[in-house]
Amino acid sequence: MLENTLVLLKPDAVKRSISGEIIARFERRGLTVAAMKLMKVSREQAKKHYDEHREKPFFGELVDFITSSPVVAMVIRGENAVKMVRSMMGATNPLDSAPGTIRGDYATEMSKNVIHGSDSPASAEREMNIFFTKDEIF
Ligand code: PPS
Repeated sequence: MLENTLVLLKPDAVKRSISGEIIARFERRGLTVAAMKLMKVSREQAKKHYDEHREKPFFGELVDFITSSPVVAMVIRGENAVKMVRSMMGATNPLDSAPGTIRGDYATEMSKNVIHGSDSPASAEREMNIFFTKDEIF
């Protein structure tokens, strides 16, 4: 099933100049970039994006980090793109993410874990609307 999913390359990825390598992994796998921009996330966007985690103790940390410096926001498209991107990302906690996954290859800390990908098609739809207008998605 052809799907779109929202991917954020987080401030740590942009600062380390590894965005291109990560995008290349998706393209090599056969997924395509349907929208992409380098942007500073506003606190309002961040709070909407992480709304389901607002009661968690790390909510403030999530919002502070994602708004701290620019991110690369993308819509990635392909067959089962939501699950495909999540499996390529690896486990949330870099201690558990297997080598060969993005977090397993690039991340060491939970709070700086390089990448966000939507966890379901419904989340993808909601999250794409926070970062992109309809006419920015090709
Ligand atoms: S949960 O608790 O299972 O719902 O969490 P999870 O879906 O794995 O993660 C939700 C986002 O919160 C980030 N996260 C954390 N950040 C800082 N500290 C701690 N302890 C922590 N636990 C989870 C995690 O990276 C997810 O952010 P995104 O941007 O979606 O990757």
